[in-house]
Amino acid sequence: RMKILYLGHSAFQLTSAQGIRLVIDPFVDNNPLAPIKAKDLKADYILLSHAHGDHCGDALKIAEKGKSTIIAVSELASYFSQSGHKTHPMQIGGAYDFEFGRVKLTRAEHGSMTPDGRYGGLAAGFVLTIDGICIYHAGDTGIFGDMKLIGELDRIDYFLVPIGGNYTMDIQDAAIATSWINPKYAIPMHYNTFPLIKADPEELRKALRDCETQVLVLKPGQEISI
Ligand code: NI
Ligand code: MN
Repeated sequence: RMKILYLGHSAFQLTSAQGIRLVIDPFVDNNPLAPIKAKDLKADYILLSHAHGDHCGDALKIAEKGKSTIIAVSELASYFSQSGHKTHPMQIGGAYDFEFGRVKLTRAEHGSMTPDGRYGGLAAGFVLTIDGICIYHAGDTGIFGDMKLIGELDRIDYFLVPIGGNYTMDIQDAAIATSWINPKYAIPMHYNTFPLIKADPEELRKALRDCETQVLVLKPGQEISI
């Protein structure tokens, strides 16, 4: 069975049934809510939704140890390949079959600039199909109507959804997006890390009480087998 480990903020580690480790949007060392730090994380692949520090802040620390492949849009991938890292460049709407499963990049309504001021390309989300399970990590995004299409193109099992507002969807918009995508489970992310994105994930559960979707609120450091 594959495992989903929530690392806090928008960071997750997914481990496939064969033991291949994917880390998405690592930001742990500067996140006081994250109990697992970069030195304790290993990744065969690192997926970066966009260039902001709270999504790729610890990518280099983790990549250097594990010789991981960094998966991101071309502009962000080339930023990392220039410092000698193994990368796999992609673009929005493109999909590729990796050894662990399929990665498709989705649109995300957001900016993307590296902490040292370089253009990071378009911000993205990911639809991952691993061991027959489909996981949509929305990245940082506001709500957009084509989320309906994402839910039509793939039958989403797990929707990793930002709820903190200010930079992304808030709970009200996240509930609407979830109802469109109609996943089996919604896992809230991108909240409570900073005062600007304070939110109560139980409110998402309440907002979706009449939907089939079950809201799974994971604590940073909590792992589920699926
Ligand atoms: Ni961002
Ligand atoms: Mn962010």
